[in-house]
Amino acid sequence: MEDFCRECPKIELHAHLNGSLSERTIQKLSHLEGAPHLYDEWQVAINHGQHRTLAECFEMFKAVHALTVTPEAVRLATSDVITDFEKDGVIYLELRSTPREVKGRMNKEQYVDAIIDAILSHQGSIVVRLLLSVDRRQGPAEAEHTLKIALDARKKHPELVVGLDLSGDPTAGALDLFLPTLSKARDQGLGVVVHCGEVPNNPEVMEMLRFAPDRLGHVTCLHPELGGCQQQWDALLASKIPVEVCLTSNLRCKTVPTYEKHHLRHLLSAGHPVALATDDKGVFCSDLSAEFLVAAKTFDLSQHDLRNLSLAAVNFCLAPPELKEKLRLHFD
Ligand code: IMP
Ligand code: ZN
Repeated sequence: MEDFCRECPKIELHAHLNGSLSERTIQKLSHLEGAPHLYDEWQVAINHGQHRTLAECFEMFKAVHALTVTPEAVRLATSDVITDFEKDGVIYLELRSTPREVKGRMNKEQYVDAIIDAILSHQGSIVVRLLLSVDRRQGPAEAEHTLKIALDARKKHPELVVGLDLSGDPTAGALDLFLPTLSKARDQGLGVVVHCGEVPNNPEVMEMLRFAPDRLGHVTCLHPELGGCQQQWDALLASKIPVEVCLTSNLRCKTVPTYEKHHLRHLLSAGHPVALATDDKGVFCSDLSAEFLVAAKTFDLSQHDLRNLSLAAVNFCLAPPELKEKLRLHFD
């Protein structure tokens, strides 16, 4: 089963660039920055992907962000992450990242250009697409700036920049602040994906479902057994919006108590569209094959079930029909 999970073609739809850096990449970046102590600090912060609260998880990103501070570092990080996913059998990757400015070293536009550069110069068969993330800790003006960067980048690389993501600390920022920007993105033909229900918040969840993004991340606290309520769960199932399921991320952030109690069980039994994803493979010490294996073991899935799960994720890619057809051929 382990071999099957690795060899099965996979679609990764929920991966944050800075959360996905391997230990080897962190080492290289600290060397590039001439600051070996940053690697030590990262090791202490990550501590082999131990379980911690959601708030502590957000603190950990600081240790990674201290290393991706120049266009050169961002290029290296992106290039390594793409290679990691390709080695893991991922054939299509939607990578997301929050444009970041580092005073005196790079602005947000240069940050995004560096990611695009790395994607374009990658030699391999994996297909990579980019979403820009709006961080909930930012305000509406920064969200608008992110949208502008995405639209400008799409003008130069129409196939490559496919959407906007709303992420960041789920206890920060009200959804209302960001809905106008997300609506504009949708009107401009960008895909919109949203982190949903990482903490219990009934009014916000219902508002997100009404907004109907292309995909929802996590949906952790919607089921009545996980801090939600029947009304939210029923609304989610009725919406048929595909869910990006990040088993290990949810477990390590302690938003689900065990794999067995993960709401994937209920999503599968309802036949709801789902795609397994890593979220932050570097921070949570996982990869997509490992997520497949956990799903198989926990929910008693056969190789046939896994193959169908992986194939179904093609339907939810922010990609044109011709590309989806090409991806499906891998499964024959
Ligand atoms: P970056 O956008 O490439 O810098 O990736 C790290 C960022 O992704 C973090 O600072 C968060 O804003 C966001 N992120 C990563 N994992 C999660 C998650 O599970 N929930 C919400 N936001 C997340
Ligand atoms: Zn995420």
